[in-house]
Amino acid sequence: MQPLQDSYGRVATDLRVSLTDKCNLRCTYCMPAEGLDWMPTSQQLTDDEVVRLIGVAVGHLGVREVRFTGGEPLVRRGLVDIVARTTALDPTVETSLTTNGLGLARTAGALAGAGLHRVNVSLDSVRRDTFTALTRRDRLDDVVAGLAAAAEAGLGPVKVNAVLMRGVNDEQAAELLGWCLERGYELRFIEQMPLDAEHRWTRDDMVTAEEILASLEASYVLTPAEEPRGSAPAERFLVDGGPATVGVIASVTRPFCGDCDRVRLTADGQVRTCLFAREESDLRGALRAGASDEELAERWVVAMRGKAAGHGIDDPTFLQPARPMSAIGG
Ligand code: 5AD
Ligand code: SF4
Repeated sequence: MQPLQDSYGRVATDLRVSLTDKCNLRCTYCMPAEGLDWMPTSQQLTDDEVVRLIGVAVGHLGVREVRFTGGEPLVRRGLVDIVARTTALDPTVETSLTTNGLGLARTAGALAGAGLHRVNVSLDSVRRDTFTALTRRDRLDDVVAGLAAAAEAGLGPVKVNAVLMRGVNDEQAAELLGWCLERGYELRFIEQMPLDAEHRWTRDDMVTAEEILASLEASYVLTPAEEPRGSAPAERFLVDGGPATVGVIASVTRPFCGDCDRVRLTADGQVRTCLFAREESDLRGALRAGASDEELAERWVVAMRGKAAGHGIDDPTFLQPARPMSAIGG
């Protein structure tokens, strides 16, 4: 076993696998209204290829957690099978899925049956008009049903991810928290990151963790949840004394790069050492050229050495990566 260690001593044990760049929503902080040019199928890893690379990561490189992301992973036809083959790996790994929740009502049972452990569902507003404006689709009811189905299927603790956009849903933080508390979902707010396809992000427009907490504190008493945070990006707070908690992921204003334990695999088989990496390492080419598991593992180890110390969003020289979030995975 060779750890995925970078030149700063961090070891990646958490693999994020993007299964498609396609999505059935058009969140304004992610995609343009007309969508994007989707990746040609020939470039996308097949189900067998994805499972093979996950197997290399788990069997040779010490990966202990696998999260499936997109785009929207539920639009990938082979998802349930990919999950089942991942949960059957030895050693066993913790598996989770980040989804927008559309279609989850239909698939939660099958995913749980395939051994999936948990889901994170993106939901930025529980008001129908705001949800529709933000995602450009009138699908709030599907997400609500998807969340309920996930909890019912035992894919918990069910987590909800929310991004606040100034002038759109930034006044709804406490309302969203109340809604999640009533249903037993664990809400986490994520600071908006410069990963939108249209490159419209500006630091001034971004709703900061500090603002989010201040807005929540108008309705709730928040106290830091005493726990070692480790590599978890969310800072968690007890709500009104607990046991319920709310999290804030301050990727921009309080970066946690020093403790990062992640590595990413894109749907077309490229290793990305960071969401914001400007370079990728191709595994698909080697895989299709007949490389052995050991050779693939070696390439992956070499790729990790190029991981940057931090995302550098605050550097004057910061450049947004060419791939948008939907083609990288959350
Ligand atoms: N900044 C922060 N979070 C984002 N997400 C998508 N784009 C961005 C962005 N630019 C969130 C989604 C989802 C998770 C994968 O990342 O809402 O919850
Ligand atoms: Fe789809 Fe997620 Fe992007 Fe929204 S943020 S458009 S749900 S990939």
